[in-house]
Amino acid sequence: MSDPSHPPMRSYGRLKSRPIKPRQAALMETLLPAIRPPAGAFDPRTLMADAPEAWLEIGFGGGEHMAAQAAAHPDVLVLGAEPFQNGVASALRHVDEQGLSNVRIHDGDARELMARLPDASLARAFILFPDPWPKGRHKKRRFLQTETVAELARLVAPGGRVRFASDWADYVDWTLERFLASPSIRWTAERADDWRVAPADHVATRYEQKRLGDCAPVFLDFQRV
Ligand SMILES: C[S@@+](CC[C@H](N)C(=O)[O-])C[C@H]1O[C@@H](n2cnc3c(N)ncnc32)[C@H](O)[C@@H]1O
Repeated sequence: MSDPSHPPMRSYGRLKSRPIKPRQAALMETLLPAIRPPAGAFDPRTLMADAPEAWLEIGFGGGEHMAAQAAAHPDVLVLGAEPFQNGVASALRHVDEQGLSNVRIHDGDARELMARLPDASLARAFILFPDPWPKGRHKKRRFLQTETVAELARLVAPGGRVRFASDWADYVDWTLERFLASPSIRWTAERADDWRVAPADHVATRYEQKRLGDCAPVFLDFQRV
C-alpha cells in the first residue's frame, strides 16, 4: 500500500513525552529487539510455533488491551504497532510482567508494518480510540481512510473481524461510511446495543476511561466477507 517515496501523512501526535522509567528503558534495550517482527515481508503466523491465527492491534497506546488479549489467547500471535515510545515502553512492561510469549511489537507506523504482511494473514484487527483529529483540515491525518480500509480488507482473511472504537461521533460516522463502502466488509451490528455496549471481550484502557471524546464510546465490529 505505502510508497516509500511518498510516506502516508502522519496520523500520530508525539513520539515521546515524559522520560521513560529506567526499568522500561532497559526493556526497550533488551526485550524490544527480541520481540520486534523481522525486517521485510513476513507471515505473522510463522512467528510462533502452533499459532493458528494472528491478530493485529493498531495504535495500542500503553498496551493494556493488547496484553490482555494476548494473555486471554495464548495460542494467538498478537502483533502490535505503535510509534509513541512511552506507549511501547509501557507495553513492554506488561509483556514482561505477564510473561507473554505471543506478542510482537512494531515500534513504528502500523501502515509500514501492514505493507509487509501477506494477503489474508490476519484473523482479527483492532483500531481502538485512534487519534481523533477532529478539526476539518486535520481529518486527512486520521488513521482510518479509504486506503486503510482497503489494506485491512486485503489483510484480514474471509470470516475474520475488524474492531474500531471511538468516542468521537464524527470519527464513528466517518469510519462507518468508509467501511460500508467496501464490498469486502460487512458491519455485524443487528441492534443498537451491538455498537453502544462494549463487546464482552473488550478490555478498556486508562486512555478510554478518560472519556476525552464528544460522545459515549461506540464499538463497530466488522467482518471480512
Ligand atoms: C488516542 S491513542 C489510543 C491508544 C489505545 N488504542 C487505547 O485505546 O488506549 C491512539 C494511539 O494511536 C497511535 N497511532 C497513531 N497513528 C498510528 C499509526 N499510523 N500507526 C500506529 N499507531 C498509531 C498513537 O501514537 C496513539 O498512541
